[in-house]
Amino acid sequence: MLQSVSQLSTQNSRVFLADAANIEALSPFLESSELDYIKKMLEKEATSVILPRLENFVAVEFIKYKNEAHINTEAARKAGAARLATVKYYKSETVGIQDLTDKNLADAYAEGLALSNYQFIKYFKDAEKKKSSLSKIEVVADAKSIEHLNIAIEATFIARDLVNEPLTYLTADQLGEEFKKLGAKAGFNVEVFGKAKIESLKMGGLLGVNRGSQNPPTFSVMEYKPENATNEKPIVLVGKGVVFDTGGLSLKPTPNSMDQMKCDMGGAAVVGASIYAVAAAKLPVWLIALVPATDNRPGEDACVPGDVLVISDGTTVEVLNTDAEGRLILADALHYAKRYEPQLVIDFATLTGAAAAAIGPQGTVVMGTASEEVKNALKNSGNAVYERLVEFPLWDEYGEFNKSDIADIKNIGGPIGGAITAGKFLQHFTDYPWMHFDIAGPAFVTAPNGYITKGGTGTGVRTIFEFLKKTVVQ
Ligand code: BES
Ligand code: ZN
Ligand code: ZN
Repeated sequence: MLQSVSQLSTQNSRVFLADAANIEALSPFLESSELDYIKKMLEKEATSVILPRLENFVAVEFIKYKNEAHINTEAARKAGAARLATVKYYKSETVGIQDLTDKNLADAYAEGLALSNYQFIKYFKDAEKKKSSLSKIEVVADAKSIEHLNIAIEATFIARDLVNEPLTYLTADQLGEEFKKLGAKAGFNVEVFGKAKIESLKMGGLLGVNRGSQNPPTFSVMEYKPENATNEKPIVLVGKGVVFDTGGLSLKPTPNSMDQMKCDMGGAAVVGASIYAVAAAKLPVWLIALVPATDNRPGEDACVPGDVLVISDGTTVEVLNTDAEGRLILADALHYAKRYEPQLVIDFATLTGAAAAAIGPQGTVVMGTASEEVKNALKNSGNAVYERLVEFPLWDEYGEFNKSDIADIKNIGGPIGGAITAGKFLQHFTDYPWMHFDIAGPAFVTAPNGYITKGGTGTGVRTIFEFLKKTVVQ
């Protein structure tokens, strides 16, 4: 989709990022009358100028920059996303981007344009007609950075597709099949455990949530282990794979909160797409991704409030709300991760409405026991791709809310700190450096915002790819 070039072809629509203070940099590309027109428009404080050509357009962007690098990168992405409307209006198939300022942000602008061009149209009868004209973006930028950007965009689209797929297609079994396809394409191992194997592993959390379902659960184990891996112990990603969350017998009300619950495998989508990106980019990182998957339904044999489940580590859990199912299936996966003696485990889960209510889709609530160094690296990677992280505390006192009268722990906390008590529950099953990403807020949005398209967003993929590139590889 993105292609690195040394100069733009005049055959295509083109975008120049320009600086009002150095307007002459545009002169090799424009007629002198066009340059005069731009100067006039700048006097009127225009932030962009479109010059129509016979079959395409030339756009000149004057992006307002601030002092911070990551804020400027985001401004370029946003400007790129906003330009999609012009691209569509001119039905351009290829667009060229060149930055004539000293900011070097042609790649970020292209990223915003490409991410905003995402569509999920496979279920429309006239899908072909709905397809966006834009299929290629030429960028005057370094080839390696464009290659990585392409992979990050493709992986984000993979995660968005998985989230947007309804349960009619994406059952727990099918999710495993999708991972197998990704593994075959990028070159990583995928093993999908069925119900019998899950039973033999005594994964009582996953089996308990699955009791109300007509479909069997799966547990996917993905591994990318290149010979040149720089880490001696693996990094393990864990993703919540609830392919639909009705709440179980503690049924969610619809339309208020059930309608979007096909997004409840958003964590699984992030980890599958992230290992895909790492393998496709051949990063020297030993990475494992684990996905416990099932739907959560109020079937005849469904778990009832008050039931006690036994997680694979032997911990007994009193289920007081069957809608707090994510932590039950993650408990088994986090316990399973111990066998790798991992360097770091990061889980992704659309876990709590509380996290979404606290900061909305603007960021991701994170917490964990990893070192300050790892936490800072993750926060910096999040900023770099503008998927901002907000750390919540895991103070011991919050653990008190998870105490049960009849079992080791219960699956709901008290009236406060819902995202944190869920995090404390997960922490119980970890004995390694660990981070928890509660993506309930940003995983799925009902209105588009720039390059964050409506529906599944893929939030988390670009952060992890950036983190592994910058922190683990270098
Ligand atoms: N899947 C939901 C959380 C969620 C909410 C995801 C909104 C995406 C958007 C989760 O399984 C859930 O229902 N959590 C409950 C927990 C409660 C019963 C302790 C919640 O947050 O209300
Ligand atoms: Zn739930
Ligand atoms: Zn859920």
